[in-house]
Amino acid sequence: MPVFVDVDPETYQIDPEKIEEKITSRTRAILPVHILGLPADMERINKIAKKHNLIVIEDACQAHLAEINGKKVGTLSNAGCFSFQNSKNLPIGEGGAIVSDDDDFIDSASSFHDFGRAYGNMVGDVSGQYIKVGTKSRLTDYQAAIGLAQLKRLEGQTEKRNRNAEYLKSKIINIPGINPYKLTKNVTRAAFHLFPFRYKAAQFQNLPRNKFLEALKAEGVPCSGGYTTLNTMPYLKDALSSKIFKAFYAKEKLDFNNYIEENKCPVNDLLCKEMVWLPQNVLLGTKQDMDNIAEAIAGIQSYSGEIKGKI
Ligand SMILES: Cc1ncc(COP(=O)(O)O)c(C=O)c1O
Repeated sequence: MPVFVDVDPETYQIDPEKIEEKITSRTRAILPVHILGLPADMERINKIAKKHNLIVIEDACQAHLAEINGKKVGTLSNAGCFSFQNSKNLPIGEGGAIVSDDDDFIDSASSFHDFGRAYGNMVGDVSGQYIKVGTKSRLTDYQAAIGLAQLKRLEGQTEKRNRNAEYLKSKIINIPGINPYKLTKNVTRAAFHLFPFRYKAAQFQNLPRNKFLEALKAEGVPCSGGYTTLNTMPYLKDALSSKIFKAFYAKEKLDFNNYIEENKCPVNDLLCKEMVWLPQNVLLGTKQDMDNIAEAIAGIQSYSGEIKGKI
């Protein structure tokens, strides 16, 4: 059963300050998501995990080559997951990878994605080829070939995204009503799957965020308002009423309204209302492109009253 922890309003990552209050005797793992490709505070998360004897699995699906203290995210815990789905910084169509220093775990994961076939340490003395229940979720060689080609470009593109993100941030940080991300302490590199900032309508003469987004798009800047809140989605209701959840959890734990109440994340709710994202490929543009984006945002700020009246 997933238990949600609220995020930090400046880094937009899981707030380590709020993790311990969610840990119970049933907790097994902490799953920080390096959301937007900006690293979560792994040093503090790992300390909490150690204290409570929990495993940590990093969702680094958006964070290829991001680093804390010079070490890659996804390698800072028991296991890290990466996505190569088409929007990602390393796209191959569909697919992903799990990394870990734990050979037994990796062998088990390899077996699982390949029909449960024997693999590495999973061979043992089990007779037959299929030693556990698995799925068929293998990458094809064609996707791997695309991935190898993409990999050659990843380092250069990551450097460029970081350079452009830092520059763009410096250009927009003083525009009233624009509050860009802050990186977690000790981050030596981010991945910038997205370039995020908070949009404060009050400083744009109450121009609603969707109108700001429309205006920014009209200036030729691709952008979006980001995700909606994950902790209130209908799939949770389905899960809570499923046979398997009923077999494992006490009745009061399966009450949807209770669940929503226990998993409130007010900071995240606010961020979902204020967030503006530029996609990663925008950061592969030129310095002049970054100047143009900053100019577009400043222009909308100056004319927000007029725009509000027109669109
Ligand atoms: C943060 C995050 N986690 C997990 C996933 C799932 O990855 P995939 O689509 O490769 O299954 C994605 C994106 O798709 C993601 O952005």
